[in-house]
Amino acid sequence: MAITRDDLMEKVTALCKRRGFIFQSSEIYGGLSGFYDYGPYGVALKRNIRELWWRHLVELRDDVVGLESTLIMHPEVWKASGHVDNFVDPLVQCLGDCKRRWRGDQVQGGRCPNCGGALSEPRLFNLMFATHVGPVADSASEVHLRPETAQGMFVDFKNVLNSTRVRIPFGIAQQGRAFRNEITPGNFVFRLREFELMEMEYFVKPDEDDRWFEYWRAERMRWYQEVLGVRPDRLRFFDHPKESLSHYSKQTTDIEYDFPFGWGELEGVADRTDFDLRTHQERSGEDLSYLDPETNERYLPWVIEPAVGADRIAIMLLLDAYDEDEVKGETRVVLRFHRNVAPVQVAVMPLSKKEELIGPAREIVTALRPHFRVEYDQTGGNIGRRYRRQDEVGTPYCVTVDFDSLQDRAVTIRERDSMEQVRVPIAELVDELTQRF
Ligand code: GAP
Repeated sequence: MAITRDDLMEKVTALCKRRGFIFQSSEIYGGLSGFYDYGPYGVALKRNIRELWWRHLVELRDDVVGLESTLIMHPEVWKASGHVDNFVDPLVQCLGDCKRRWRGDQVQGGRCPNCGGALSEPRLFNLMFATHVGPVADSASEVHLRPETAQGMFVDFKNVLNSTRVRIPFGIAQQGRAFRNEITPGNFVFRLREFELMEMEYFVKPDEDDRWFEYWRAERMRWYQEVLGVRPDRLRFFDHPKESLSHYSKQTTDIEYDFPFGWGELEGVADRTDFDLRTHQERSGEDLSYLDPETNERYLPWVIEPAVGADRIAIMLLLDAYDEDEVKGETRVVLRFHRNVAPVQVAVMPLSKKEELIGPAREIVTALRPHFRVEYDQTGGNIGRRYRRQDEVGTPYCVTVDFDSLQDRAVTIRERDSMEQVRVPIAELVDELTQRF
């Protein structure tokens, strides 16, 4: 039976809780809106996302280096970046019964979407979370939790330049927590108040921005399709019209995904011009220009920035992978994860809890672990049910050790999507799985 778009989000949310991908934060106290925890399989999925991003944006390239800056920075940073003045959403409140708050730009028809009541005039609401450094909570000690990681790369630009051998064009990449006091968090982990951002600032010659903008748009789209295995028909580019550009941007393209609630931003690729380096240079008084060693030209580099949230990729991958089929009159739920992102790549299971099977199964786990992400499942019970459980967490292969294995030194490999089973000698298992992967 086809899964409707309306059902899909509900089914994935339920699966995430049932199988330990994602839980509501502080659930025993009723939860906290816009905050989520990652359970055992969710952590594994998110680590894979982070590692694949880092591998392809930093480790496999000569021209990008990493950085880890602090979550709390000098207050001047957010004045220079424009976040104090511009990182605002229009907030409206229902004047009717429910008193709910909404983002003014997302409400249609001027009435409360919940109860139909009249709405207040919009007032600008800054999305940055404020806190204080030190024991005195006054305006002089006020700081903000970072709403993006990007500013760390701009503020440390000179440090990276002076301490490494980077030459323009080059990038600085960073992954880490970001905080936004969203008025309407929602759609599960699509819009959060605390999330994991992955950003890369790519510094280029001022007149070469268009070329690099095109390059990064294409490269990032390739990554989703080839590395994460996302269905190409569910991805598209959306070029922002001039009037919806951020204050720092000359041009921005979003890579959008066809979510159950409609096309939504997955990643933004922005041409930030020299806005950030210029404003930090002006405010700090530090020279942030770059001296081209070949031409002896001095200039402020322009910046192309691909930026994406790991949580948004996680929910996209879960939705993209979710499927149901009929097996022997029963509905089978399966996550058809690409091998690169699957939390578990191979599950090894002895057919029963008998000691004589546990020994060889354990040996197989030890042999496979250097090559794959392996889970050992000794829960016993019906093997079919154990396969279903692995299908639900998206494990591409199960390896079963049975009583015949003791004689023929072979095991059964069961494939997730086709459910096909083949017998393979234990001695050839690593090679066989490597080939299949
Ligand atoms: N430095 C540029 C920047 O922060 P953005 O479009 O505001 O740009 C970049 O955010 C990406 O971060 C988005 O494309 C999205 O993937 C993710 N993101 C933004 N706000 C988010 C939120 N509230 N919850 C989860 N992810 C979010």
